[in-house]
Amino acid sequence: MRAITINEFGGPQVLTETELPEPRPGPGQLTIDTTHAAVGLVDVFFRRGDLAGRPGMPQPPLVPGLEAAGTVRALGPGVTGFQVGEPVVTLTQMSLGGYASVTLADVAMTVSLKGSGVDPAQAVSALPNATTAYLALTRVAHLQKGESVLVHGVAGGLAATFPAVARSLGASRVFGTVSSRARIKDTEHLGLDEVFTSDQFVKDLDGRLTDVVVDPVGGDVRTASLDVLAQLGRILLVGHAARTPDTPLTGDDLWHRNAAMLGFAVGPYLAADPDAARPAAEKVVDLLARGELTLRVDELPLSQAAEAHRRLEAREVPGRLVLTL
Ligand SMILES: NC(=O)c1ccc[n+]([C@@H]2O[C@H](COP(=O)([O-])OP(=O)(O)OC[C@H]3O[C@@H](n4cnc5c(N)ncnc54)[C@H](OP(=O)(O)O)[C@@H]3O)[C@@H](O)[C@H]2O)c1
Repeated sequence: MRAITINEFGGPQVLTETELPEPRPGPGQLTIDTTHAAVGLVDVFFRRGDLAGRPGMPQPPLVPGLEAAGTVRALGPGVTGFQVGEPVVTLTQMSLGGYASVTLADVAMTVSLKGSGVDPAQAVSALPNATTAYLALTRVAHLQKGESVLVHGVAGGLAATFPAVARSLGASRVFGTVSSRARIKDTEHLGLDEVFTSDQFVKDLDGRLTDVVVDPVGGDVRTASLDVLAQLGRILLVGHAARTPDTPLTGDDLWHRNAAMLGFAVGPYLAADPDAARPAAEKVVDLLARGELTLRVDELPLSQAAEAHRRLEAREVPGRLVLTL
């Protein structure tokens, strides 16, 4: 099969197209003829080795790619519930492997698109991240109907899925921040009540307090979020795109404000509770099918994986980038 491999950590140039043996599905697995593989910032972190010291992180040689869509190619022994040729998307799995013409997937992390009418490029761009958003808002932040939500870095791949999911859960108002005024146009399709720049959001909210702040960015916006948090508000940490030194928030900062900071990382969560994936993902398929969640998607051929990484690191991507096969 065709695949993009990383044989050593480094810049985008380490992404090399090569031929590899096709994976064979074992029990609880299936393989997918990949048509679309999404590119996320976490792929860049894996490629650079930013997460290398942490337990369970994949090491080179590896085929990157946590999110893939296509059609079922083969089923592992005893696997039922899917048919060969059926359109599917796989969710996050630490075995990676999405940048390849055949992707090995866990059945528990795979969702059918059969009969949904959902475009596979939209599905691979939105479904894994929106499933993360759904689990984070329901199981961790416990978002209640009528609560308000502020999403930092809202033009980003993960963040852009939160507004639609929050609305579907009954959020009253959904605000966003972006890093510059030029980015605001990239958020017009997200159905936000208002968008602010990250250096101004405290001032522009003008005393309007927020129940849940979603933060995949970190750094100064994380610290400043305490100033816009309502009583019993929650800051939901879902990433660290800025890769700055960690935020100097103390227990007293939270205690004195009746505030909470909560973390959510979908990989370890679903590794511990794989059965949580499908019900959440099926809610997201419904949102996609009803057109309530739509992302801006740009496509590049698989052979341009290095260019895709270069653009994402340079923050030139207006929505999501998808590699096509
Ligand atoms: N919790 C989970 O399970 C989970 C799942 C998926 C991803 N993540 C994490 O979420 C974070 C975002 O991933 P993504 O794929 O959504 O990335 P992305 O599409 O590149 O989006 C990154 C966002 O962060 C903003 N940003 C602010 N400062 C930045 C900086 N110094 N460098 C890069 N971006 C900066 C960007 O703003 P501009 O657009 O204005 O540049 C953009 O909105 C990553 O830390 C990733 O590991 C977590």
